[in-house]
Amino acid sequence: MTARVLNGKEIALEVRAAVKAGVADFVKAHGRAPGLDVIIVGEDAASVVYTRNKEKAALEVGMRGALHRLPEQTGQAELLLMIDRLNRDPSVDGILVQLPLPKHIDGEKVILAIDPSKDVDGFHPVNAGQLAIGRADRALVPCTPRACMKLLALSGVSLSGARAVVVGRSNIVGKPVAQLLLAEHATVTIAHSRTRDLPAVCREADVLIAAVGKPEMVRVDWVKAGAVVIDVGINRVPDPANPGKTRLVGDVAYAEAAERAGAITPVPGGVGPLTIACLLENTLLSAKRRSAT
Ligand code: GUN
Repeated sequence: MTARVLNGKEIALEVRAAVKAGVADFVKAHGRAPGLDVIIVGEDAASVVYTRNKEKAALEVGMRGALHRLPEQTGQAELLLMIDRLNRDPSVDGILVQLPLPKHIDGEKVILAIDPSKDVDGFHPVNAGQLAIGRADRALVPCTPRACMKLLALSGVSLSGARAVVVGRSNIVGKPVAQLLLAEHATVTIAHSRTRDLPAVCREADVLIAAVGKPEMVRVDWVKAGAVVIDVGINRVPDPANPGKTRLVGDVAYAEAAERAGAITPVPGGVGPLTIACLLENTLLSAKRRSAT
């Protein structure tokens, strides 16, 4: 069997087009564009690219987008002041602080400082809590987990009663995607680095989500025949075909896993492009909810 490839780029274009239309309607109704403010502290090369892409994507759908680039040595108090200012600014609908933050800044304090109604990352405990009690309808739900769910919908897999295994227990992906799968009535296992016989646990999965950040860790013998495999990993590794160069790989050994899976996401071009599209959706949703109150 060769797996169906779940193309995230294509759906991302559809989602962005729908958001663009929604933004135009919002502007007509409210006389202003939804606003997304992205903050980055420091110069981590990958984070700089990600944040630029987020700002650019906001502008492309007609939102107001701003990227606040703060130097590495920015103090926590200064960052909290900026968040406070954005919380109180009515033109700001979404606030995103790019992670990881420099070591001298307490990330939990920073996330707690963001107004939950503007927390388009969905990381604030109020949003995580709403999701955990089954009220995703009241929450802002993290973007990468939402992207995973859109790809599962595309695959056509029936989640009710299905066995889902999530490898990785981060607050950004593993835990929230497990909650979303549970809300769709899947039987969910969250596996991690201490899980005994991880390959055997993964082989049980009708839906396997890999979100650990370990290049090509999931091998073909971890995959049940016909399973849907969603690869959240983005890992830069040396490219044996081009000495001195690097290439991107996921957490799944794609070529071999695709021989056994029923459907699989590629890296790049799977979950990644959809994540930013979901961020735009969250920003529009936040603008609509906030203007309705
Ligand atoms: N770093 C890696 N992924 C994310 C994300 O989804 N949001 C933020 N803010 N930082 C990240």
